[in-house]
Amino acid sequence: MARDKEKRSCGQRLAEWRAFVWDPRSRQFLGRTGTSWGLILLFYLVFYGFLAGLFALTMWVMLQSVDPHVPKYQDRLATPGMMIRPRTEGLDVTFNVTQSQTWRHYVRALHQFLEPYNDSVQAARNAACVPGRYNEQPDDSVPNYPKRACRFNRSLLGPCAGLAPADDYGYGVGQPCVLLKVNRVINFFPGRNKSINVICAAKREEDAALLGPLQLFPPNGSIDLMYFPYYGKRVHVNYTQPVVAVQFANATANMEHYIECRLNAAGLRTDDERDKFAGRVAFRLRINRD
Ligand SMILES: *[C@@H]1O[C@H](CO)[C@@H](O)[C@H](O)[C@H]1NC(C)=O
Ligand SMILES: *[C@@H]1O[C@H](CO)[C@@H](O)[C@H](O)[C@H]1NC(C)=O
Ligand SMILES: *[C@@H]1O[C@H](CO)[C@@H](O)[C@H](O)[C@H]1NC(C)=O
Ligand SMILES: *[C@@H]1O[C@H](CO)[C@@H](O)[C@H](O)[C@H]1NC(C)=O
Ligand SMILES: *[C@@H]1O[C@H](CO)[C@@H](O)[C@H](O)[C@H]1NC(C)=O
Ligand SMILES: *[C@@H]1O[C@H](CO)[C@@H](O)[C@H](O)[C@H]1NC(C)=O
Ligand SMILES: *[C@@H]1O[C@H](CO)[C@@H](O)[C@H](O)[C@H]1NC(C)=O
Repeated sequence: MARDKEKRSCGQRLAEWRAFVWDPRSRQFLGRTGTSWGLILLFYLVFYGFLAGLFALTMWVMLQSVDPHVPKYQDRLATPGMMIRPRTEGLDVTFNVTQSQTWRHYVRALHQFLEPYNDSVQAARNAACVPGRYNEQPDDSVPNYPKRACRFNRSLLGPCAGLAPADDYGYGVGQPCVLLKVNRVINFFPGRNKSINVICAAKREEDAALLGPLQLFPPNGSIDLMYFPYYGKRVHVNYTQPVVAVQFANATANMEHYIECRLNAAGLRTDDERDKFAGRVAFRLRINRD
């Protein structure tokens, strides 16, 4: 008996369901007539069409106000950041002198980074500028006129230039080179017309003796004013960022060294507690050897 009742109600439900999907009497599909469905479709079509139009209009208005040559929003950085090459995880340069596989990747990274600095490349692309003053190139009447970049010859980096084919930047003899670069900031005139340079030292003074003498290339770690200002990558296509190399000539092996390099330029603060990379960079060096 119970089974019979169940069967009947099951068949009934199926019939009801079918009638709901398509009711031939009232010609309704899923409970609505064709006109009703048409109106709903029309409503959503108009509604979403309107939204899309509004979005397109807003986008167009915004793009009208964007200059492709200068980033619209730039941090008003008082001080540019600094970075090292080879760029390593945690700014940590650790290697074993006698195991070349522990430093070969550093050498490869430096070779790659310095490729565009080759004297021949620089001579072909860039201009010989007047040292000691900004390479200012006003737009005059032609906006966004391409800007000439100044030569930065790789050979200026002395023993850290890695020019010989088998050069290892000193890693194979435990006198490694680390390159320092100042991040690009558009229309930035550092140093108030006075010469600027990079200074490196052990982070704690008492470790200076163990770190040994540091050699900077170009001499004194100087950065010429002619590499400023930078006008942005669209107009200043061949711009060559100045770099400074520091070589650790006699750093004590098998211990951690903490080094800090700073940009020394008039009117530039490098002691911002909140920004560890404002005009400076700190990194770790460990030379393992027997
Ligand atoms: C850079 O190298 C080129 C070609 O070797 C040379 O003519 C030029 O004087 C060098 N410039 C500097 C600033 O050393
Ligand atoms: C950039 O370098 C190319 C050669 O690589 C040169 O033809 C071009 O004139 C340079 N552009 C500027 C603005 O100096
Ligand atoms: C740059 O110079 C290095 C070392 O002299 C050389 O191995 C490399 O092929 C040069 N690269 C270019 C692009 O000239
Ligand atoms: C640098 O000196 C020149 C000439 O004395 C001056 O016109 C310019 O404004 C100075 N630039 C800065 C950033 O002080
Ligand atoms: C390096 O700095 C010292 C002291 O500031 C100065 O006497 C010397 O002429 C500088 N050397 C170069 C090559 O700029
Ligand atoms: C290198 O440093 C050691 C002590 O760490 C010292 O005895 C030695 O004289 C130094 N050598 C040079 C060339 O500075
Ligand atoms: C450096 O490599 C040598 C040779 O493989 C090895 O004997 C030595 O233990 C390593 N030194 C350190 C401090 O890892």
